[in-house]
This record gives sequence, structure tokens and C-alpha cells, in this order.
Amino acid sequence: MIKQIHAGKRRFMNLLLLADEQLSMIERYLGRGDMFVMYEGECAVAVAVVTDEGGGVCELKNIAVGPDWQGRGLGKHLVEFLCGHYGRSFRTMIVGTGETRRTMGFYERCGFARSHRIKNFFTDNYDHPIVEDGVVLSDMIYFSRKL
Ligand SMILES: CC(C)(COP(=O)(O)OP(=O)(O)OC[C@H]1O[C@@H](n2cnc3c(N)ncnc32)[C@H](O)[C@@H]1OP(=O)(O)O)[C@@H](O)C(=O)NCCC(=O)NCCS
Repeated sequence: MIKQIHAGKRRFMNLLLLADEQLSMIERYLGRGDMFVMYEGECAVAVAVVTDEGGGVCELKNIAVGPDWQGRGLGKHLVEFLCGHYGRSFRTMIVGTGETRRTMGFYERCGFARSHRIKNFFTDNYDHPIVEDGVVLSDMIYFSRKL
């Protein structure tokens, strides 16, 4: 079951931090973003935050599946749900990620295509080096999907 969360978004910080490890960066979009949580029974297993970027574009700012639940199709299912939901009022969904095979592969499997890059996003905006799969992230790679 997927539920939109309107109050108490910070309860899910542990999940959000899996996808974005700096709290101050999460705070930048958490207030203005829509949050969705996927439950298995009483247990919150995945989370996503989407913002309205104007001009018919929404942005998937954060998506994370709990470590014990990864690799079972839940992340892809959540993306499909979000594309259906936002497809009623938006034209395009975009998502930015670090340049690693793991996350870029996931978005490609979810129907996103590479669009552009923001040079030095990670090195300019984070207060410490962000390392993913042994790679120090520097540029933000953007993907987009027509809704
Ligand atoms: C990235 C993440 C959201 C993916 O969710 P998931 O539930 O584990 O992924 P799914 O099981 O739904 O996989 C969906 C598809 O992506 C593919 N995929 C998943 N991980 C992949 C990887 N490392 N490399 C390539 N493809 C991958 C799967 O093979 C699957 O493809 P298929 O539909 O052809 O079978 C999840 O692993 C996660 O939360 N990771 C930590 C936080 C994070 O990195 N978030 C994204 C930040 S930008």
C-alpha cells in the first residue's frame, strides 16, 4: 500500500538518508515536496519525495527502499505509481543522481533517459565528499521521463 504523507514527514528520515546522506540537503525540498510512503503491513519499506518545478515538470527528489527490501521490484513499482499519479497534471518527471552505474541503471530500467548534467553539484553543495560504490561524486546527472 502506498500512502501520501502530509504531516510528520521527518519520521521517515532514516529512509530518506539512504538516498541523500546530508540532512541539510533533504531539508531543502522536504517542506515543499509531496511525500509518499510504501508500507508492507505496518512497516514503512520505501519512501519518495516529488516537487513541482513549474512548467509542467515535477522532480523526483528522493527515492529509497529499505535495505532488507531492495532488489524486489518495490522501487520500480513506486516509480510507476508516481508516474501515474503525476501524469494527470504534469508533462515530465525529472530526477538527478550521482554518476554511478547502480542508480543510473535503476532509472534507465524505470524508463528514464539521460538529459543533462549539473557540473560539480555534489562538490559545490555538500559539506563532505559523497562516495557511492567507491566513486567520489562530482556532477549531478539528470534523467527525464515523459508522463
Ligand atoms: C535505488 C533503489 C531505489 C532501487 O529500488 P529497488 O527496489 O532496490 O529496485 P527494483 O528492485 O525495483 O529494481 C528495478 C529495476 O532496476 C534494476 N536495478 C536495480 N538496481 C540496479 C543496479 N544496481 N544496476 C542496474 N540495474 C538495477 C533492477 O534490475 C530492475 O530491473 P528490471 O525491472 O529489469 O528487473 C534502492 O536500491 C535504494 O533505495 N537504494 C539506496 C538509496 C538510493 O540510492 N536511492 C537513489 C538515489 S538517487
